[in-house]
Amino acid sequence: MTRILFAANSKAWADYEAPLRKALDDAGQDFELVTESDPSSVDYIVYAPNSRVQNFKPYSSLKAVLNLWAGVENVTGNDTLSVPLARMVDDGMTEGMVEWCIAHVMRHHLDTDIDIKRTDHDWQPRVPKLARNRCVSVLGIGALGGAVAKALAALNFQVTGWSRRPRDIPEIVCLSGSDGLIEALRNAEILILLLPLTPETENLLNAERLSLLPKGAVVINPGRGPLIDDAALIAALDAGHLGHATLDVFRIEPLPADHPFWSHPKVTVTPHIASATRVESASRVIAENIRRGERGEQFLHLVDRSRGY
Ligand code: NAP
Ligand code: GLV
Repeated sequence: MTRILFAANSKAWADYEAPLRKALDDAGQDFELVTESDPSSVDYIVYAPNSRVQNFKPYSSLKAVLNLWAGVENVTGNDTLSVPLARMVDDGMTEGMVEWCIAHVMRHHLDTDIDIKRTDHDWQPRVPKLARNRCVSVLGIGALGGAVAKALAALNFQVTGWSRRPRDIPEIVCLSGSDGLIEALRNAEILILLLPLTPETENLLNAERLSLLPKGAVVINPGRGPLIDDAALIAALDAGHLGHATLDVFRIEPLPADHPFWSHPKVTVTPHIASATRVESASRVIAENIRRGERGEQFLHLVDRSRGY
């Protein structure tokens, strides 16, 4: 029997217990799903960044750690972990991220704030640009950014994507490398960050790179807070170089009450809600990985810990 330790928090357990049991049954697994266990008898850990398990050494029979989150920056540096680490790639989360990004791109593309804030008798019609004339760049075109880029292209936006390795996605101008980054930034009337947080991507959007964006550009960050140099972002907004920043993720979460982002007129804060892992679809991903592990097959969505994602 496979012993699976659910080591995310107790609220997550209430949400996940039934769907995980069902997904494991559907995957034909003979399992014991627990929240407490003698570490030496655990085969798999279903994990989350805020898990109480931080020392994996006592888990001497562990076969894999299966993260419920897409982001693994809090786990990759854990030297006590020596077994495969899989991150979450979940259709539900991807759909949610596409919807959130499209909503915020459309807000800025159509300038809907003008209409939402319009006062009585303010009758000033305008003709917005079409998407086909709007350039959007997506930094990070993996599971989430790739889906967002494709959805934007399907709406006719001119989409540029940037990744570490060269990629080829129909209808997207795919760039990589430092010259590719410069081009992606120069093209971006709207910039979306969907990079993982790694030593290479931390502070990627610094003052120099922000200055490459066209005047009035909008930055949308559902990736991770430390991808952006906060002070440089505020300076670029205050100087009028940037039009707006819509930020979902922050260096410290919850965003401290006295943080200047809360009151900045050109910043929209959302509380890390761009897209949550969806319980049913994510449970199927976990169950499939356990099925694979038990058959000696390659795990899905393995993290390259030397790269940090
Ligand atoms: P992913 O599939 O691993 O994609 C990451 C993308 O970033 C890939 O295109 C990758 O390039 C690129 N990349 C990584 N390092 C790079 C570098 N140094 N230079 C250029 N490109 C680089 O990850 P994902 O599932 O799309 O998730 C992305 C991130 O979204 C997560 O790590 C997490 O931080 C964030 N997230 C946020 C929320 C939220 O609610 N706010 C929800 C889920 C996830 P390659 O294609 O060459 O590998
Ligand atoms: C959410 O931010 C995740 O990484 O899944």
